[in-house]
Amino acid sequence: MKILVIGSGGREHALAWKLRQASRVDRVFVAPGNAGTAQDAENVDIAADQIPLLVRFAKDNRIDLTVVGPEAPLVAGIVDAFEEEGLRIFGPTRQAAELEGSKAFCKNLLRSANVPTAEFHVFRDARAAERFILDRYPSDEESVPLVIKADGLAAGKGVHVCQSRRDALEAIDRIARQKIFGSAGDQLVIEERLDGQEASILALTDGRTIVPLPACQDHKPAYDGDRGPNTGGMGAYCPAPLVTPEMMQFVTERILVPTVHAMKRLRRPFRGVLYAGLMITHQGPKVLEFNVRFGDPECEPLLMRLKSPLVDLLEAVVDERLNELPPPEFDPRPAVCVVMASEGYPGSYERGFPIRGLDEAARLPDVKVFHAGTATVDGQVVTNGGRVLAVTALGNSIAAAKLQAYTAVRCIRWRGAWCRKDIADKAINWPPPEIP
Ligand code: AMP
Ligand code: GLY
Repeated sequence: MKILVIGSGGREHALAWKLRQASRVDRVFVAPGNAGTAQDAENVDIAADQIPLLVRFAKDNRIDLTVVGPEAPLVAGIVDAFEEEGLRIFGPTRQAAELEGSKAFCKNLLRSANVPTAEFHVFRDARAAERFILDRYPSDEESVPLVIKADGLAAGKGVHVCQSRRDALEAIDRIARQKIFGSAGDQLVIEERLDGQEASILALTDGRTIVPLPACQDHKPAYDGDRGPNTGGMGAYCPAPLVTPEMMQFVTERILVPTVHAMKRLRRPFRGVLYAGLMITHQGPKVLEFNVRFGDPECEPLLMRLKSPLVDLLEAVVDERLNELPPPEFDPRPAVCVVMASEGYPGSYERGFPIRGLDEAARLPDVKVFHAGTATVDGQVVTNGGRVLAVTALGNSIAAAKLQAYTAVRCIRWRGAWCRKDIADKAINWPPPEIP
């Protein structure tokens, strides 16, 4: 069987690597891929947004299954385009992908399905949003515990967590007047700020059956101690001990099931990965957002632990027979993933620095170095993005997996390479000590 994976990050490297492990999978292509996918699969020089070219490639090469990594092509309708040509593809249709593509759509659906989430209001223009803020917070001095979000896709940058009224007004101005995210700012969502720890719960669903996967935790801020600007994610681990089995059951019953049912009722049946970004508050888990794809970097530790053939699971979703499969098996050992980044990320950075020590890291047991922003130039692996590598390791405990991941990190070097030093510490120190 031949599989095409679409995308070029650590997530797509992990998907390609895992899919290749099944004996019935003969070839895995990745479009456009990176230096790592070129080693573990075959790269195809087509960008993830070139939907007609991807359809043509899948037809010409008789691809049996296509797996989409990033959200943008899903929201643009890549699944509809493939299905119109009779091609099998894993992911939600354009209408179902609106769950991630429009925060207003998502919040309205959550409200109508009575799923726990932050209180919110949707605005169509800056003036109305500003009036809302000024009416509610007449004084400049008050703290303003709100979050302002651009409705559409903004590469993870469209969310402003506010402290003051000035923050809130500035965010409205940038999103809805200056249109720094373009038409993604045509609507604004203003919501109550939630406090707690975040967790990512990903589930496979074919629109009827839901298979929740072990909980993960991402590390979005750039620097240690959760300081600095937000990034795409600087590391992740799986499982997250913060999410107890009872909480997992609550998330399934009160969040995943009603969401999948609501999508079905709206005639937008959801097939693919439903990723709930949760805030674990004192009142229990609440949805911050839904994503309609695997998380990156959550995908890397999750797939490092997966023992069942991934291709079986993804095919069962596409063919709507997830109920026929036994529950997926996971390695009982936890996995930790540390992202190594370019100097300057998440701001501007240079590319093209040769990466050394990859072979040495690869020789360590229970380690897999997934590539994200890398390229091959004259036979040499060089940096080609902000997040460069997702160094992932298994261990007998989270602390052991962390140690092994950082042992691998220490083998690898390039000019300006850096990473957070505290990935998974929240889990290692979990539960927090009781305050007497
Ligand atoms: P989103 O893209 O909606 O997940 O937002 C990105 C990040 O913004 C989340 O991972 C949270 O850290 C933060 N965030 C979003 N919504 C809220 C909220 N209502 N309260 C507190 N933090 C939030
Ligand atoms: N890890 C966050 C995301 O994939 O959106």
